[in-house]
Amino acid sequence: METSPLLDLSHVHTVLSEFYDLTPSAELAASMSETYAKMERVVTPPDWAVYAPYVRAINALKKERNAVILGHNYMTPEIFHGVSDFVGDSLQLAMKAGEVEADVIVQAGVHFMAETSKILSPEKTVLMPDMGAGCSLAESITAEGVEEMRAKYPGAPVVSYVNTTAEVKAASDICCTSSNAVQIVNAMESDTVIMTPDQYLAQNVANESHKNVVFWPGSCIVHEQYTPQDLRDFRQWNPDVRLIAHPECPPNVVAEADFSGSTSGILKYVREEKPKQAMLITECSMASNIADELPQVDFIGPCNMCPYMKKITLEKILYVLHTMEGQVVVDALVADKARQSVQAMIDLSRKLGL
Ligand code: 13P
Ligand code: SF4
Repeated sequence: METSPLLDLSHVHTVLSEFYDLTPSAELAASMSETYAKMERVVTPPDWAVYAPYVRAINALKKERNAVILGHNYMTPEIFHGVSDFVGDSLQLAMKAGEVEADVIVQAGVHFMAETSKILSPEKTVLMPDMGAGCSLAESITAEGVEEMRAKYPGAPVVSYVNTTAEVKAASDICCTSSNAVQIVNAMESDTVIMTPDQYLAQNVANESHKNVVFWPGSCIVHEQYTPQDLRDFRQWNPDVRLIAHPECPPNVVAEADFSGSTSGILKYVREEKPKQAMLITECSMASNIADELPQVDFIGPCNMCPYMKKITLEKILYVLHTMEGQVVVDALVADKARQSVQAMIDLSRKLGL
């Protein structure tokens, strides 16, 4: 990841207040009630009065810049419902980045997602509202780590999670996301498959696949915090609850859950099943973003926050769109190789109807 100085928030504030009226406004908030209706259960009216001027300014500026905002499912409701043009999991956002007609993509997500967008759309300007929005998985492995694994398991293909840097993608044979990992691993010709960098996703995939999956010992700081005892306790206290876990959770946690899937897989499951009570064993915004759509579902906590995803705010989105700072750069040679791994995943996913 390229390093950049930390965003000076007081500078951001000064610049924005020169060009936009961002004073909290109950009147403006009321005039945007259609948008607010999507988050009423989780965003208070005073908070909406603070967000509304930013939402209005961002949506107007998007038109001027011919920009789209790709919002990950872990974005907070005011970003997810207020300004995102497309929302989804990592696979859906990667596919959208390659298709979307725009001059500018603002990635409301973490840095590896912005890099993936740039790799798939090198001609577009890709803006990252905060360059410090990393990912513990992406930071756990380098291209040298991939080569170490190749030396240890000669001939085995490397399937790297999209939660990796462009360099790691370039050193891999194919990428995967949590929504296609089992199918991608199963499609490899070799009996042994190397998965990087998420040890838990790899073990969960191994449990559903006929391959010998060997893996790198990385983990997600959000999902590794859950324990199987947590889930057993939650179920004992709430016997009717449906426990729904992301596959970045350890396998003994997934084993206690009623369903496991990618962020979009989780949303689909809850929308279809509409359980009376649901606990999403994943990032907190997931439940917030569908709370209003599914008033019949009682979402119970706790959840865990991703400190990287939470670096993305309306203020930073408006700032990068205004200044065009935060442009994501990927070395052309690295991007060419990384594109092959990402494109191989997209092509295979399309072929398999995923
Ligand atoms: P999804 O591909 O399921 O959206 O996961 C991305 C991620 O970072 C989850 O922690
Ligand atoms: Fe990375 Fe975990 Fe945050 Fe997803 S939730 S971006 S895997 S640290």
